[in-house]
Amino acid sequence: MIGKLNHVAIVVPDLTISRERYMTLLGADVSLPVDLHEHGVTVCFVQLPNSKVELMTPLGSSSPVATFLDRNPSGGMHHVCYEVEDIRTARDALVAGGARVLGTGEPKIGAHGLPVLFLHPKDFDGTLIELEEVKQIASS
Ligand code: CO
Repeated sequence: MIGKLNHVAIVVPDLTISRERYMTLLGADVSLPVDLHEHGVTVCFVQLPNSKVELMTPLGSSSPVATFLDRNPSGGMHHVCYEVEDIRTARDALVAGGARVLGTGEPKIGAHGLPVLFLHPKDFDGTLIELEEVKQIASS
């Protein structure tokens, strides 16, 4: 069902500092920060040859990652994102298999303008999983 690793997400206390560190110390290409009001986070993406790292920090007072940062003041790994071809088909199969989908169960539009869902970390070894619907382009 799952395809490529789309990204690993890390919550950081200061996005400007972390972004700068990835660019200067690690020599990475990093996108400009974008505010995602619906998700309560500001994000930027570190572009790697085979995947991405999402650096995210709370946006607004009711951000879902604010409590994460309270528990992990220096930041930490937050979720992994796997690509799926059809997010509703994947969701239905997961729910039928006993996995829990967070929120309403309906996909939201994520950072890349594509539908995303989150799965309960207690069902996956303590790891929050994001699924992102990425239509597969014919492979070369
Ligand atoms: Co993500």
